[in-house]
Order: sequence, then structure tokens, then C-alpha cells
Amino acid sequence: MPFKTIKLNDGREIPAIGFGTWKIPKEVCAGEVEQAIEVGFDHVDTAQVYANEEEAGQGIKESGLSRKDLWITTKWSGVNGSSPREACEASLEKLGVSSVDLLLIHHPRLTNGDIPGAWKKMEELHKEGKAKSIGVSNFSVDDLKVLLASANVKPVVNQILLHPYVYETTKPLLAYMSENHIVPEGYSSLIPLTSRPGGPVDKPVNDIAKRLKAKPEQVLLAWSKAKGAVIVTTSSRKDRLEGYLGVGDIDLTDEDVKAIDKAGKKGQQSIARREMAVKVLKWATVAGLAGYIGVKTFM
Ligand SMILES: NC(=O)c1ccc[n+]([C@@H]2O[C@H](COP(=O)([O-])OP(=O)(O)OC[C@H]3O[C@@H](n4cnc5c(N)ncnc54)[C@H](OP(=O)(O)O)[C@@H]3O)[C@@H](O)[C@H]2O)c1
Repeated sequence: MPFKTIKLNDGREIPAIGFGTWKIPKEVCAGEVEQAIEVGFDHVDTAQVYANEEEAGQGIKESGLSRKDLWITTKWSGVNGSSPREACEASLEKLGVSSVDLLLIHHPRLTNGDIPGAWKKMEELHKEGKAKSIGVSNFSVDDLKVLLASANVKPVVNQILLHPYVYETTKPLLAYMSENHIVPEGYSSLIPLTSRPGGPVDKPVNDIAKRLKAKPEQVLLAWSKAKGAVIVTTSSRKDRLEGYLGVGDIDLTDEDVKAIDKAGKKGQQSIARREMAVKVLKWATVAGLAGYIGVKTFM
């Protein structure tokens, strides 16, 4: 069963998995976007700061997929001090489209402390039809509270870091978003595989993968799906992209999800302990106390 769409608070429906273009070099971006669309992706996630919107637009064009069948997200990233309008209009030009499906504020810090002012500019672009839906990224509960207090149009999504090693601390944000009908889009859900292999999450993920005859990356994306998130992921490899789309057929049990959550929490605690130890050690080194407290300075 293919991935379903997820209904947004403005009534529109977003494809539940998207292909992201972050870090894709310009030279290969058109080809990788085209490959993703050929494999079956109908949602492309890019951003002003990724500096490959033009190539992404070329890949979209070359895929031959009709504009109405493709969801395009881009983000105002404040490159060179650009305003949301300057960024959005340049993005439309580069992507070769008259509107994007979703425009996000890439990070709250881009607003320079004026979230209501920046959101008003996003609302204008929405009213003009340049962005069919508008949302945010990397917003905390406090950022969302400030935004919602003055918004005429609610953000439809908050695109956030979502993987098992951050889930425990992200729970209150997810709960607040759910109360306010803001859909989570989860990025970097494969971090336990890509940058933190060897952690406690590996065991439940590998056990589940074995039982379901699936790949570990599919289990991690299925975990993100189970959290109700729109998955934003990427791959240069056709076989992996096919596997990602296959996650539409993978439903983890409550026990599976709980086992991954538990391992993620354990990993998060050990990371927090290590970070604290590093801070203490740095402080002790600076204070010339390392020898006194019997710690070797190995960093
Ligand atoms: N809003 C934001 O601030 C923000 C921040 C970060 C990302 N994003 C969005 O999210 C998208 C995805 O981000 P991400 O790249 O961090 O996501 P990700 O889905 O966690 O990682 C994707 C990477 O995982 C690799 N991978 C897949 N399976 C693997 C395996 N079994 N072993 C080792 N590596 C494996 C892929 O490499 P191969 O190419 O080799 O398959 C690919 O480069 C971005 O492109 C962007 O659109 C948004």
C-alpha cells in the first residue's frame, strides 16, 4: 500500500514522504531529483540555503511529472539578508514554478526576534498564492506560542529533527503541535544509522528489521511514520529510495515503537552524561584541576 497523504489544518493534503535536496551537489541534483520522482516520490523538499533549487527545478521538469501531481516545499533561509518575499520570488524563478505548495521559515533565528513580523510577510505570500500553504521549521513550543498569538493563518507544519535519540526531549513539542493541529515533518530520522551507529537503538531496529525482512533504514522511517510525521529523507541510491517508499507498507506494532523509544531514551541519557562529563573535564582542565581530581586529559 503506498504512502497516504496527511491532512493539514488549511484543508490541503501533503504526501506523507518527501525527497530532500540538502547537501546534494549541484552537478548531480537534477539527476537525483529526477530519479526520486521516477521511483515514485511526488514530494520534493528544498530550501533557499541548499543552493540547488535551480537544479531541483530542472530535475522536476525533466521528470515530466505534471505540476499538479507534485508537492514542492521550499524554505526562506534568509540568505544574504533576503526577506521572505525576495527569497520566495527567487525560489519560484529558480524552481520554474508559479507557486510552491509549502513555504517554511527555515529557522526562528532568521526572524531576528520578530516572529510576528516575519509571519505576517509569510501570510502575504500565502494570500497572493505564491505559497499555497505556509509553515515553520525548527520552532520550539515558545516560538510557536509567540507566532500563534498574532497569526491570522496557522502554520500547517513544523519541520523538525526527529529521531529516536531526540524523541524524549521532543515529546512536549510534538504534544503542543498536536493540540494546535500543526503536523510534524521529521527530518534526519536516519541519524542512528548515519552518524550514531553502535548506540542502543541499533538492537531493536535490527531485531525488528530481521523479523519484518526489512532494512534498518526502513524501520527507522516506519518509526517516524508511527509518530504521525511527514517523513523528509533522501538518498542518492535508487534501491534505497524504493525501500523508503516501501515503508508505506510497514506498520510497526506498539511494542516495536516502545522498544525503539526506550532505547532512544537510554542513548539520549548516555549522550547527555557524556556531554556533561566533557563540560566538567574542560572546566577542570581550564581550572588546572584535572590532575587534582585524578582525570587524564585525553581531549
Ligand atoms: N528544516 C531543516 O532544518 C532540515 C535539516 C536537515 C534536513 N532537512 C531536510 O531533510 C532531508 C533529509 O535530511 P537528512 O539527509 O539529514 O536525512 P536522513 O533521512 O536521516 O538521511 C539520509 C541519508 O541517509 C543515508 N542512508 C540511508 N540508509 C543508510 C544506511 N543503511 N546506512 C548509511 N547511510 C544510509 C543516505 O545516503 P545514500 O545517499 O548513500 O543512500 C542519505 O544521505 C534533507 O534533504 C532536507 O530536505 C531539513
